[in-house]
Amino acid sequence: MRIAFACDHAASEQREAILEALRGAGHEVLDFGTDTGASVDYPDHIAPAAEALARGDADRAVVMCGTGIGASIVANKIPGVLCARVSTVEDAEMARRHNDSNALALGARTASTETNLSILRTWLETPFDGGRHQGRVDKIRALDRRRCD
Ligand code: RB5
Repeated sequence: MRIAFACDHAASEQREAILEALRGAGHEVLDFGTDTGASVDYPDHIAPAAEALARGDADRAVVMCGTGIGASIVANKIPGVLCARVSTVEDAEMARRHNDSNALALGARTASTETNLSILRTWLETPFDGGRHQGRVDKIRALDRRRCD
């Protein structure tokens, strides 16, 4: 798959391990940075990665910040993106099986590299269950077209 990746400075120590795992599993990575520990504002990197996913330039996105919370909030602002902030392998499985998430948000300060690599592997390898979950995901996707003003 083509995978858009983005992180802020909080993930600068984990990013190489995540990128190596993605490439090692045969995926093509579109890297939106940041690639240093210098402080940045996470929306500046996460939004372009989420937009690449929404445009269809990527099949999935992996986004990281200190907690994964800011990254997931930004990614979910982009229509077409279903981003799950995941901190356990069990949630990674469900974020695919039930929610068909196409973006994964990881916390670099709240989970070890080893845990995040396990989450990543599970999330990449777990298919969507479809069935009764399809209609629910369709209803989430329909919210992209709803205006609140
Ligand atoms: C950066 O200090 C931190 O706020 C950011 O990485 C993230 O955790 C925000 O949600």
